[in-house]
Amino acid sequence: MNQTPPERLPDTDAGHHIAAAMLRAGRLVAFPTETVYGLGADATNDRAVARIFEAKGRPSFNPLIVHFAELEDLKQHVVWTDEADTLARAYWPGPLTLVLKKHPGSAISSLVTAGLDTIAVRLPGHPAAQAILGALGRGVAAPSANRSGQISPTQPSHVLDSLGGRLDAVLDGGASEVGVESTIIGLLDKPVLLRPGGITEAELAKTLGRNIAVRHKAEAISAPGQLMSHYAPTARVRLNATDWQTGEMRLGFGEVDCDLNLSADEDLVEAASNLFDYLHRLDARGGEAIAVSPIPHEGLGIAINDRLSRAAAPRDG
Ligand code: TXA
Ligand code: MG
Repeated sequence: MNQTPPERLPDTDAGHHIAAAMLRAGRLVAFPTETVYGLGADATNDRAVARIFEAKGRPSFNPLIVHFAELEDLKQHVVWTDEADTLARAYWPGPLTLVLKKHPGSAISSLVTAGLDTIAVRLPGHPAAQAILGALGRGVAAPSANRSGQISPTQPSHVLDSLGGRLDAVLDGGASEVGVESTIIGLLDKPVLLRPGGITEAELAKTLGRNIAVRHKAEAISAPGQLMSHYAPTARVRLNATDWQTGEMRLGFGEVDCDLNLSADEDLVEAASNLFDYLHRLDARGGEAIAVSPIPHEGLGIAINDRLSRAAAPRDG
């Protein structure tokens, strides 16, 4: 974790280029969007993305939005649809996020999508965000730039008050105009409003020429096949394994003999960055069970254990 105070970068060409260079080097940079300030990391860099969760102090891994400057770049990471095209033409750049099928060839970190085969993407309208993303030329994963449980920041001072020594830089682009997060709409089998925001459901329905279903919280919990469901391996998962049973696929942590090691050095950032990828890789071998070494219940370990215990929970069918 960064102990030196974060750099405050100016909203100039030079500031944008420094921000892009820092992101390219795997560092955490907060930047303004028209909705709220985002805590950005290179979305293709597993470790940088793991640091977002560490800095926010989130007790769980929820999937993150990936931000792009160019529609053509964005399209390489998703399965683009006619309805996506209609909404993109009407509202981008702007405060709208689309959840689409992730393109199988996309290099976006599996930690960004929490192991799901869908991905949330947006093209922000704030000129500083566009300049940084354009200079970087890659997707940037960015949740709101605040500690977990605190309110979303609309000014650099909010970011610094909340995240202080936990990020590398903040680009000072003044106050965010919208002040609430982007509207999120899922476009998988039918349009579903996943989070209300700056653009209303009525506006979106009018643009699409059809109704938009609204996802209620209870529905998300009772319908595990829905958009918000978390990736779960097919194999059974056994936690806190201090020995291995015959036939188990072994997911280790620390100095253990195993099939894949989340982090031989017991580095929780490294372990988080490998988590979804390694679960997928072991699951793809087709065995019946995955046994996982104990993970310390501190820092990022809390989110890792949360994810693993969901994977290990008994399931229907
Ligand atoms: O305005 C915004 O959207 C801000 C700025 C920084 O762009 N970002 C933001 O990100 O609010 P975050 O991480 O706080 O919110 C991401 C939301 C979460 O509610 C998450 O569950 C949802 O997007 N999400 C991300 N990927 C998803 C996916 N594949 N399926 C369903 N929901 C997804
Ligand atoms: Mg937030």
